[in-house]
Amino acid sequence: MNLPEKVTMIEVGPRDGLQNEKKQVPTNAKIHFIKGLKEAGLKEMELTSFVSPKWVPQMSDAKEVIESCLDEDRNFVLAPNRKGIDRVYETDVKHVAVFVGVSSAFNKKNINKTTEESMEELKPILAELKQKGYFVRACISTAFYCPYDGKVDPDDVLALCTQFADYGVDELSVADTVGMANPQESYELFKRLNDELGDRLLLTAHFHDTRGMALANVFACLQAGISRFDASSGGLGGCPFAPGATGNVATEDVVYMLHQMGIETGIDLEKLLKAIQGISGHVSRDIESKYYKLNNQTHSVS
Ligand code: HMG
Ligand code: MG
Repeated sequence: MNLPEKVTMIEVGPRDGLQNEKKQVPTNAKIHFIKGLKEAGLKEMELTSFVSPKWVPQMSDAKEVIESCLDEDRNFVLAPNRKGIDRVYETDVKHVAVFVGVSSAFNKKNINKTTEESMEELKPILAELKQKGYFVRACISTAFYCPYDGKVDPDDVLALCTQFADYGVDELSVADTVGMANPQESYELFKRLNDELGDRLLLTAHFHDTRGMALANVFACLQAGISRFDASSGGLGGCPFAPGATGNVATEDVVYMLHQMGIETGIDLEKLLKAIQGISGHVSRDIESKYYKLNNQTHSVS
């Protein structure tokens, strides 16, 4: 089977993993979590987001988190609009992630704009970010199914992704927001994206595990030539504006699977487990990932 020798994991736990937590996670616990994840070898990470604190109170400490955690790694901060980008300019952040839904119904619930309105706002912003030398990642939500409008047409996904490529982004993170995609759909969409856009930018897959298909979807994407995956340590996560969606595929489960197949990630699973133990006491849900449940009893929680 033709699989990559190396895979890059992009950790989204501190952002996607925590944004949906109802009880405010202490800023120090977030910082400790991020540092532990970095210790474990995660060199690309979404640290937080510059969004409205009224819409997503959990991310209201974004500035403090950034101030304590920025280093030479690829540290992303999400920003959906001009106000978010202006907040980026007040920091030393050099890696920005914008986010848009293929489904306008979802985009409206998530950022109060249609997809078209978001793209209009982002066009000059992306040109400006590139001109200033920022690394830009575009997160494409509802690439398979929308919680409001159902099945999404792959032609619409390709059209939106191509528009972002034309606007000069460096990376596309293409997401199954509600965790409904099956491995066949994942293979077909990512194969097509890879064939059409793979030589123009980095392509990353982002799966939520609502129906237990995320790991199979990762494997399908490996076969489609994808070697970058978003994941959340502990399998935490979910978008507050995507009803019914649960956490991302767990970083530790993906890394374990990859290592078992002889694929390198540069991640130390022992250290990763420690980082998850550290945050586990601050989140309302149990850590359900297979690797964590199997290995946690042999370690004491820090
Ligand atoms: P709005 O209410 O339309 O915003 O919300 P507005 O432009 O009318 O401004 C209203 C107020 O918000 C003003 O403040 C603005 O200054 C402030 P006021 O005058 O009332 O005091 N404001 C902001 N404050 C801080 N940062 C900003 C910002 N923008 C405006 N950037 C808005 C529009 C985009 C702000 C809102 O809808 C929002 O914050 N949405 C964020 C939604 C979100 O974070 N979703 C989760 C991340 S996406 C995701 O999880 C999916 C992903 O994982 C991939 C996948 O799985 O699909 C990436
Ligand atoms: Mg997500």
